[in-house]
Order: sequence, then C-alpha cells, then structure tokens
Amino acid sequence: MAETPDKGFTHRTIERNVTLLAVLSFVAVAIGGIVEIAPLFWIDETIEKVEGMRPYTPLEQAGRNIYIREGCYTCHSQMIRPFRDEDERYGHYSLAAESMYDHPFQWGSKRTGPDLARVGNRYSDEWHVQHLRNPRSVTPELIMPGYEFLYSRKLDAGDMVAHLTALSRVGVPYTDEAIAAANEDLKTQADPNADASALLARYPKAQVRDFDGQPDKLTEMDALVAYMQMLGTLVDFEAVAAQEEPR
Ligand code: HEC
Repeated sequence: MAETPDKGFTHRTIERNVTLLAVLSFVAVAIGGIVEIAPLFWIDETIEKVEGMRPYTPLEQAGRNIYIREGCYTCHSQMIRPFRDEDERYGHYSLAAESMYDHPFQWGSKRTGPDLARVGNRYSDEWHVQHLRNPRSVTPELIMPGYEFLYSRKLDAGDMVAHLTALSRVGVPYTDEAIAAANEDLKTQADPNADASALLARYPKAQVRDFDGQPDKLTEMDALVAYMQMLGTLVDFEAVAAQEEPR
C-alpha cells in the first residue's frame, strides 16, 4: 500500500520518532498527574467546614469496626449523590466533611441494600436489633443475612486508647483527654446509669443509652446500633441548606 505523504507535524511524525514520542508521553502523563495530585495540597480548603462534625465516640468507632468486619459495605453505600431522586429518598447529599474522620471511608461501591449515610434516628433501637438478628422478621422478602450472634457476643473492642491514638496520628482531632478516657467512654455510652457528662462534653450529640435492650451486657450489637443511630445525625442540615443557593 502506498504511504500517504506526511503533511507536516502529524501523528505519524510523533509515532516514528521514539524520543519525541517519549517526551510528549511524559508531558501528557505529567499534566494528568498534576491535575490529580495538586488539589491534595489544598485539601484543607477543599473540604468545606461544616458545623457539628466531630470524631466518633469509642463506642461508635467500635461499631464501625464491626460494620467493616462483617462486610456491611459490600451491600450498603454511605454516600448520597447530589441527584434529586437520591435527595428525596435519603436526604441531603453527602458532604466531604462528613467522611473526613473516616479511616477507611465507607462510601461503598454497591447498593444491594439502601444507602445508610443518614439512617441514624430513622428507626428505633428495637427495630435495628430485630432487623439485624432476623431481617426477615421485619420484611419477609429481604435478602440481607442475619447477624444473630452480635446480640450475644460480648463487645471486645480491644484497647480503644491505642485505637484513638492511631486515628489521631492520621489527623483525627482526638484530644489527649479523650484518648486517655477512651476505654471508660466506650462503656459509659451504653450504660444509662453512668454519669455521661464528660462524654457528652467531648462528643456533642452522642446518644447515651443501652442500645440492644440488654442493660446488663455490653454486646457487639450495642456498638453496631450506636454507630447506625449516629450516621448522618451530626451535621445540622437546616443550617447547611440556609447557606446554599437555592437549587
Ligand atoms: C447481602 C447484602 C447485605 C448485607 C451484607 C447487609 N445488608 Fe443491610 N440490607 C440489605 C438489603 C437488600 C436491605 C433492604 C431493605 C429494604 O429496603 O427492605 C437492607 C437494609 C438494611 C437497613 C435498613 C435501611 C433502611 O434505610 O431501611 C439497615 C440499617 C441495614 N441493612 C444495615 C446493615 C448492616 C449493619 C449490615 C452489616 C452487619 C448489613 N446491613 C449487611 C442487604 C444487605
């Protein structure tokens, strides 16, 4: 086949000159790299500040660990996208600030079940306990697996002082005082008879009560339900909506 004559600086010129191809490829990759990496230098400005976000309490954090251990994220997302149908079903779309203390984040990539980013306070504790123990007793056709064992398993969260220290090293603003009290705070939050004033001062809006309906036991169910009931409840969305332009 006759070669088409080369008219000036074309694709053909670039492909036939190894050095030129290498230099131009490098330039293209470098531009792509800068576009991806540069915003990270201004990450503090990128995440808009919102009132109400706080680090998780030790009990919520322990519940979150169970959520990860049981793979709840394989069926549930925690990120509401800014689309009207999502907004109407789940509530205000997720803000970057809402997952800024998540290590690792739980945005998820699959929704076999509904998004859980704002499930907190939507159902009663009893509903959550019953639903997790036996999902089909709540909705007969549900395909979600049951987690009966969480109800009887004693919560063994490990050393929360070490856990919170690790989180503070990656930037979660736990105070020294909060870290020192972590193992106490873990128990206090699920104990309706304990004095929770120090816990509440450290973690505003923390919900303090017996979550699993077994006041004499601190179970994995207590931690998971405490985590569920907190999701999406920290930020005051009426204040956020007032600042936003009308859509
Ligand atoms: C195999 C997939 C699957 C897994 C794993 C799973 N779920 Fe679900 N979950 C579902 C489905 C499906 C629903 C649908 C409920 C409905 O709409 O009737 C659901 C519903 C829920 C709801 C009610 C949400 C709402 O807004 O009505 C909660 C809360 C929930 N799951 C929590 C969990 C937790 C916590 C775990 C891990 C311990 C978990 N799920 C694991 C599939 C799953």
